[in-house]
Amino acid sequence: MNKITIVEKPDWVSWNDIHDVLVAAHADNKLKGIVMQHQCLSGEEIKQELGSAGVMIIALDGQKVVGVAAIEEKIGKQWYLKGRYGYLCFAGVLPDYRGKGIYTSLIKKREQKAKELNYNLLAFDTHKDNLIVQEIAQKNGYRLVRYFRAQTGDHFNVAMVKWLNGQDAFNKKVKQAYCLSKLLTIIQFKRNGKERTRLTTLVCQGINRWLKVK
Ligand SMILES: CC(C)(COP(=O)(O)OP(=O)(O)OC[C@H]1O[C@@H](n2cnc3c(N)ncnc32)[C@H](O)[C@@H]1OP(=O)(O)O)[C@@H](O)C(=O)NCCC(=O)NCCS
Repeated sequence: MNKITIVEKPDWVSWNDIHDVLVAAHADNKLKGIVMQHQCLSGEEIKQELGSAGVMIIALDGQKVVGVAAIEEKIGKQWYLKGRYGYLCFAGVLPDYRGKGIYTSLIKKREQKAKELNYNLLAFDTHKDNLIVQEIAQKNGYRLVRYFRAQTGDHFNVAMVKWLNGQDAFNKKVKQAYCLSKLLTIIQFKRNGKERTRLTTLVCQGINRWLKVK
């Protein structure tokens, strides 16, 4: 293995190369039933999703792409994300290259780029059972802020954020808001993501709206 370099995607790396790394990186997740929407996109769809404001960071072993991680520009409406923020997505490292600090280097490079782009906050969603990523993110200063049903409606996700402007991410509100969103989601939905009853949904949505966490 050569020295791994972490760079912004050069033109000679194709979006299909990036797609291939994501498919290989997520293969073991898929076997465990941890299926995320983004891992299914084609190279062209990844490019479209990132748009002109998005940034793709890659890890290279010589000319081989061995890891990827992106930032997409989004506008937030949650209590913890108001306005423009960096949404972290399309992250994965090839199985043979794991445990060598490649993802940690990708995280650092991505944060450096986010600061250059003047994002105050970075956020991402992941499957509630993708515990390795949640652990790595916590080690790198990210906090759990929300527990919610995925758009596909068949599983639950968590949202994690990191404030880059020094805001105290360890304050009580973050923990309380996360626990409350988890409690309301568990009350509202069964394990298979189906609503329990219309009444519980209406009550939970009402509380969410009142708390302005939704
Ligand atoms: C999550 C993933 C990106 C980690 O990549 P990686 O390059 O192996 O991560 P690193 O080497 O930087 O490891 C960072 C830390 O996590 C630990 N770690 C990594 N994989 C681990 C595992 N499977 N089990 C336990 N700890 C693990 C490392 O030991 C390291 O700990 P340290 O900081 O105390 O040394 C990789 O496993 C992957 O591609 N997973 C599938 C795709 C995925 O889930 N993407 C995220 C979508 S949100």
